[in-house]
Amino acid sequence: MKMAHVFVLVCFWHLTGVLGESVLVLEGDSVTLHTGLTELLEDELIKWRFGAENTLITKINVMDNRITIYEDVLDGRFRNRLKVDQTASLTITNITTEHAGVYQLQTNSLSKSFSITVYARLPVPVLIRDCSSSSSSSVQYCSVLCSVVNVSAVSLSWYKGNSVLSSISVSDLSISLSLPLEVEYQENNTYSCVINNTISNQTTHLNITQLCQTCKGSGHCCGPTEAVIRLVGSALVGVAVAAFLVYDIRSRKKR
Ligand SMILES: *[C@@H]1O[C@H](CO)[C@@H](O)[C@H](O)[C@H]1NC(C)=O
Ligand SMILES: *[C@@H]1O[C@H](CO)[C@@H](O)[C@H](O)[C@H]1NC(C)=O
Ligand SMILES: *[C@@H]1O[C@H](CO)[C@@H](O)[C@H](O)[C@H]1NC(C)=O
Ligand SMILES: *[C@@H]1O[C@H](CO)[C@@H](O)[C@H](O)[C@H]1NC(C)=O
Ligand SMILES: *[C@@H]1O[C@H](CO)[C@@H](O)[C@H](O)[C@H]1NC(C)=O
Ligand SMILES: *[C@@H]1O[C@H](CO)[C@@H](O)[C@H](O)[C@H]1NC(C)=O
Repeated sequence: MKMAHVFVLVCFWHLTGVLGESVLVLEGDSVTLHTGLTELLEDELIKWRFGAENTLITKINVMDNRITIYEDVLDGRFRNRLKVDQTASLTITNITTEHAGVYQLQTNSLSKSFSITVYARLPVPVLIRDCSSSSSSSVQYCSVLCSVVNVSAVSLSWYKGNSVLSSISVSDLSISLSLPLEVEYQENNTYSCVINNTISNQTTHLNITQLCQTCKGSGHCCGPTEAVIRLVGSALVGVAVAAFLVYDIRSRKKR
């Protein structure tokens, strides 16, 4: 191969990514991988393959007017989930993390690949009045915790109007997160807690009047709220343990 060809090839790889066109999908959604073909030729034989083993999942034989969907391959993970349209484009419905990976299209004249990344559906952030932090400032301020359970690859943020007040991010670990906020009882600002990943977000608005009325002035807390705070407490311990584990693994790798 000539040098120029290699260069063009590398550029092409660079543009499309080695793994092909990148497609980001939210868990439970449907996605269509477009062939870009406008009409299928008489003698066309089209194949869709998936994964590291290049497993054949769909074959379209235009001459015989026959579409074969291999539902039993890969332990049936594509069963009742694949559809093919007139352009041989492949639709995967109700996608799960099992369907993340590389899809390859092969026709008589072209081959093309798509890399699907599946993102988890985000939980709605839960706001909790934090009665435990009844410090000296509690006469003026109300402490609120925004929390989410069992998330990974997300950011959790407090917004005041449209600007970010504070934010934390986690990567791969599936953990619980809490982010505190102190607000004055008499405030006209709008606060909201937002969780997001690369492709979606969920928002909970803070209603100070509603949330900050319980356990006012008293150091002691009320039944259900206390239970929830204990839960958050243990979730925070969970985070600490996870952080320690990561630290421990890292420091071991260095040795
Ligand atoms: C989507 O897939 C999940 C997991 O396989 C399944 O539990 C759920 O019933 C499916 N939903 C629909 C609408 O098919
Ligand atoms: C946490 O999430 C993982 C996958 O995202 C799931 O398998 C697990 O059951 C979840 N655990 C809890 C306690 O919700
Ligand atoms: C959340 O959204 C912000 C921009 O609004 C983005 O910079 C950040 O990377 C997102 N978080 C994650 C985990 O993708
Ligand atoms: C909130 O708004 C009301 C009327 O709109 C005003 O009287 C009050 O001073 C404002 N409070 C603060 C803390 O800005
Ligand atoms: C949340 O997502 C919507 C689109 O789904 C976007 O318009 C909005 O800006 C996002 N909000 C934040 C705070 O990232
Ligand atoms: C906040 O909560 C109070 C009391 O529950 C309610 O009367 C008010 O309408 C709520 N405000 C908003 C903006 O939802």
